[in-house]
Amino acid sequence: MIETCYLEGRGDLSEWRDAARRFLAAGLEPRAINWRLRSEERDLFGAGDNDKAVQESVPGGSTNGQTQISVSPAFLRLADSIICHSDAIRFDLLYRLLFRSKSDRNLLEVKTDADVALAHRMQKSIGRDYHKMKAFVRFKEVPLPMGVAGRRRFLAWFEPDHFIVARVAPFFQRRFNDMVWIIATPRGSASWDGQTLLTSTEPAQKPDISDETDELWRTYYASIFNPARLKVKMMMTEMPKKYWKNLPEAELIPSLIAGAEAKLIDMGQRQATEPLPFHHRLQEAAARTPDVPAAEAGTIEALRQEARRCTRCDLYCRATQTVFGEGPLDAKVMIVGEQPGDQEDLAGRPFVGPAGRVFDEALSLAGLDRRALYITNAVKHFKYEPRGKRRVHQRPNAGEVEQCRWWLTREIDLVKPKLVVAMGATALFSLTDRKDRLENVRSRPIIMDETRTLFVTVHPSYLLRIPDQIKREEELARFRHDIATIGRLAI
Ligand code: URA
Repeated sequence: MIETCYLEGRGDLSEWRDAARRFLAAGLEPRAINWRLRSEERDLFGAGDNDKAVQESVPGGSTNGQTQISVSPAFLRLADSIICHSDAIRFDLLYRLLFRSKSDRNLLEVKTDADVALAHRMQKSIGRDYHKMKAFVRFKEVPLPMGVAGRRRFLAWFEPDHFIVARVAPFFQRRFNDMVWIIATPRGSASWDGQTLLTSTEPAQKPDISDETDELWRTYYASIFNPARLKVKMMMTEMPKKYWKNLPEAELIPSLIAGAEAKLIDMGQRQATEPLPFHHRLQEAAARTPDVPAAEAGTIEALRQEARRCTRCDLYCRATQTVFGEGPLDAKVMIVGEQPGDQEDLAGRPFVGPAGRVFDEALSLAGLDRRALYITNAVKHFKYEPRGKRRVHQRPNAGEVEQCRWWLTREIDLVKPKLVVAMGATALFSLTDRKDRLENVRSRPIIMDETRTLFVTVHPSYLLRIPDQIKREEELARFRHDIATIGRLAI
């Protein structure tokens, strides 16, 4: 025969324990008991139909439940936690464990046992819920009625997975002891008036509250967000999406994640841009004529040596050194960028910084060997604006591009590439003297003269600045496609 046991409310530990004691004393097997919550029955059938109390359903049970049963402290701790779980199987599981512990006192240590494993999973889930509640409860001030003086009052709404409010409430009492507050949840509420902590298992309705502290949370969150430490998977575990709707700062998360890569690169650039202590020595050394024999006039090497002392515009004054093109003299493809960035300026080589990495990756995806290309820039000196310790990239103006075109034209004359690739608007302007919109001329071969073809694509650093992740990925795919096209055009 199956005995039905009704528990009040959501079923607290002492109520379950009293019933379990009596069942155990009566020798009832776990499968002979049907644990039910009266509140759920009431919801389904209306009050009154099942008005029998727990005791009435226990065969031969005494209402005082005096039977002495000794259980281990470990079982009590487990039961105290699991009883908060929202799954109705908790009562049955606990009774099964209790019943089986009678003949196996070490049962709880058998981690491979299905009941024990389930109990530990449930306990873990409650522990997680407990920590999330401690971390994600956000109090909002509730204005006092007009003309009423008194202590400021605060209200918070939280949606726990389990019935943990009474368990966590003492933490909030300690932490927010000098405030008057209520924490409302669909699984019970807690309140503190400065003197008494009250808890209830009645489900609450979500209040409509928001205040200026929301903005504070957002500001705080944005300021502590560190893109260098972003691990999206871990972040989602720490702050699962289901909590976002009640966290004012959560609305920032998608944009912070989307912008993290660009911000990181920006941070990297700033870091690298701190003028090195030996910057001036480097600059002077770079300007000195090297101790190598002068290259034969009219060769690319002679041009490179000459460019080291370039003063055609003012950019040489602040840059560390001229960053001249590099690559084989018989390269079929010449890549033209805008100007060296911070890292290129220090290294003295083109495209070795973050934009270079995007470019290199596209090359390797297209199966192209960077060493077969001649890579250069429209402008050979790094133009930047000092900001504190940082050197922030500045776009070269038309005059600077025009002055530097002198070098680029000579590089093209000497290398004689079949295909010249303009990466970005500055390179396009330098090569054509036109300010076409990139989109209008991009991704297709353009005949320059009978020996040379031009191909236009975006600058890789543009891709690094796109904040929207989906757009960035789309644009990156287009860029990679362009680079693959270059490979085909150069054959
Ligand atoms: N951007 C450029 O245009 N050229 C470089 O060499 C590096 C970044």
